[in-house]
Amino acid sequence: MKFFIDTANLEQIIEAQNLGILDGVTTNPSLMAKEGIKGNENILAHYQRICEIVDGDVSAEVISTDYNGMIKEGEILAKLHPRIVVKVPMIKEGIRAIKYFSGKNIRTNCTLVFSPGQALLAAKAGAYYVSPFVGRLDDISFDGMELVAHIVNIYKTYDFKTQVLAASIRNPIHIIKALDAGAHVATCPLDAILGLLKHPLTDIGLQKFLEDYSRVTS
Ligand code: G3P
Repeated sequence: MKFFIDTANLEQIIEAQNLGILDGVTTNPSLMAKEGIKGNENILAHYQRICEIVDGDVSAEVISTDYNGMIKEGEILAKLHPRIVVKVPMIKEGIRAIKYFSGKNIRTNCTLVFSPGQALLAAKAGAYYVSPFVGRLDDISFDGMELVAHIVNIYKTYDFKTQVLAASIRNPIHIIKALDAGAHVATCPLDAILGLLKHPLTDIGLQKFLEDYSRVTS
């Protein structure tokens, strides 16, 4: 399973990249707004900076919700860098746009997916990734990871090539369960990735190693 970081924050992307385990980045309009980047030129430059940091796919989302607007925006985004994947929301116009992009060999990430039916349409339109939002389903007492497993099973049964990118990941357990569900990718906040490092027995064991060693070498 590939590890993407779900942020537009350059420091966090660099920290994850320096760990040596980063395979890509996903952003969305809310994450971009959080970085306070203003103006279209600055936004496009920010995506390019992210592409220069990470050695993997970078999802950049269109903001238009009409077909022509999505096409115009998506073609601009795709020209920024070969690593750019155009993120498109799961709406009727978005499916049409994904079909257009797949015909032009522009890779897409169909986002805001919350049902197997939506995932089916994304795959039929030729999306490169589909992003089922695990955390937001869990937040309303639906089983988000069950959706991921269901989509993985549908795609395997019908040999769809679209990759399942588990999104809206909230914690390390979500990452582990995304593995169990067979997701191709999990896109995670940095804290969730760093949370995988933590175990009290590791800390206790290392502390004892150091204490025992210092006793015989001091
Ligand atoms: O970026 C897409 C998705 O990962 C957003 O997650 O935490 O806003 O539900 P979240």
